[in-house]
Amino acid sequence: MSANHLSMRGINLAFAGFRALSHVDFDIKGGSVHALTGANGAGKSTLMAVLCGTHDHYEGEIAINNQVVSIRSPRDAKQYGIHLVQQEVDVALVPGLSIAENIMLDRLAEPGHRYSWSTVRQQAKAALAQLDISFDVRRSVDSCTLAEKQQILLARALSHHCRFLILDEPTAPLDQHESERLFTVVRRLQGQGIGVVFISHRIHELKAICDTLTVLRDGRLIETGPMADLSGEAIVEKMLGHELNDIYPPRRPPHGEETLLNIDGLNDDGLLQDISLRLRKGEILGIAGLAGAGKTELCKALFGATKSRATRGELNGQPWQPNNPADSVTRGMALVPEERRKEGIFIEDPISMNLSVSADNSFSRWSLFGHRQAWRWAEEVIARVGIRTTGPAQTLRRLSGGNQQKVAIGKWLRANANVLIFDEPTKGVDVKAKTDLFQLIDGLAREGKGIIYASGEFAELVGLCDRICVLWDGRIVAEIAGADAREETLLYYSTGGTAA
Ligand SMILES: Nc1ncnc2c1ncn2[C@@H]1O[C@H](COP(=O)(O)OP(=O)(O)OP(=O)(O)O)[C@@H](O)[C@H]1O
Ligand SMILES: [Mg+2]
Repeated sequence: MSANHLSMRGINLAFAGFRALSHVDFDIKGGSVHALTGANGAGKSTLMAVLCGTHDHYEGEIAINNQVVSIRSPRDAKQYGIHLVQQEVDVALVPGLSIAENIMLDRLAEPGHRYSWSTVRQQAKAALAQLDISFDVRRSVDSCTLAEKQQILLARALSHHCRFLILDEPTAPLDQHESERLFTVVRRLQGQGIGVVFISHRIHELKAICDTLTVLRDGRLIETGPMADLSGEAIVEKMLGHELNDIYPPRRPPHGEETLLNIDGLNDDGLLQDISLRLRKGEILGIAGLAGAGKTELCKALFGATKSRATRGELNGQPWQPNNPADSVTRGMALVPEERRKEGIFIEDPISMNLSVSADNSFSRWSLFGHRQAWRWAEEVIARVGIRTTGPAQTLRRLSGGNQQKVAIGKWLRANANVLIFDEPTKGVDVKAKTDLFQLIDGLAREGKGIIYASGEFAELVGLCDRICVLWDGRIVAEIAGADAREETLLYYSTGGTAA
């Protein structure tokens, strides 16, 4: 049996006059893993959406094994064995339903389908087994972590006859260990002759598992060919269209000793144990940890979004106990949460509306400021964080994934907060946006604000932070000065290593 081959030729797509794709060619071969990369908004998700039948108004030709095919609906795509694991996993899942139902969703939706629960569960389990996973499939999908949700979508794809599998930023919600597991699965599927498209901003991942590479920029094909032909640096330069300068800002002058936040003996009802932290004016404090170490729990607890207790707390010189987000915001604190797509933004509303939901009332969507003011502010934020958009009126759903994240971050810039907590802010954003974000954070620190920066990207912590606390199993197990920090040291402590 010869390998399947899918080719897209001269694909054009416009949305209301905006050219999202111009004459793009793309190939997928059975048994190969094809990296698709490019900056936020380059057109990666859109090109794959065309292949999955989401945009029936594209121009160009798609052929499978040299036969021209017409893919104008998701149903067509599935019939040809093309399946997608989306970037926004939540969009593809039905809340309230069980894991089993979500895996078997397409079958259950077929007209005239008569299902027995035991069959549905059994088939769902069988699909998960292909990924070496066994969950209780009766559980509600609402209780799943992002990593689990992604596995559910992957299992859904594999429950069909799958010839071409598209993974849109599959590792963004995963830690190193979970990513490794996914790579094992991808390699196995490759071995079974499935053609895989792997979208990611993490060049080292692409290098590790892809044999072919395509780079898009501004909706155009910039480069395609064997992965081995380009160095990681060259790939980034193709993405950006220019040379890459140092992505981290230069070292800031030392900050003073003035303390903004001080907390001792913080515990929550779950993971966190006896956390003590001090954040100074003008300081960027890193919180390093792998997934599950408690970074998100710590950020939320400090913000008062979860139940916790501290033996002693002080915020901006006042006694303080973190127990209420509204109170935290009034006292000058802001949190950019990890699950921004769920917690931080309103996907059906325009950028201007999203940015003007006042940060001091961020949990109520009705506290808006004047329309003109909102508009001007939105234009300013768009420029400051580099959001790729047609303007403040565009709804978030129309933005690329990375650009939605920039909106979520931009939303917090207006608040006169002086303690800003960022939980994994660079997930899914491209190198250019990362550089902009680092500059922004550096600028905030230079203004005298204190930043808490939680991340599992150790290189970023080393590049950016003045001091880094390593979190392991809900406890701070090491504290390292930024100047002395090395990635290996952070990794050592965050996997449970102890000081000699
Ligand atoms: N339905 C739509 N209507 C209008 N514009 C759209 C629509 N879908 C996508 N776009 C625009 O097309 C461009 C490409 O978006 P796409 O989501 O493909 O980017 P991407 O390369 O996947 O980026 P990211 O890395 O941020 O996920 C963006 O400028 C986006 O705003
Ligand atoms: Mg995308």
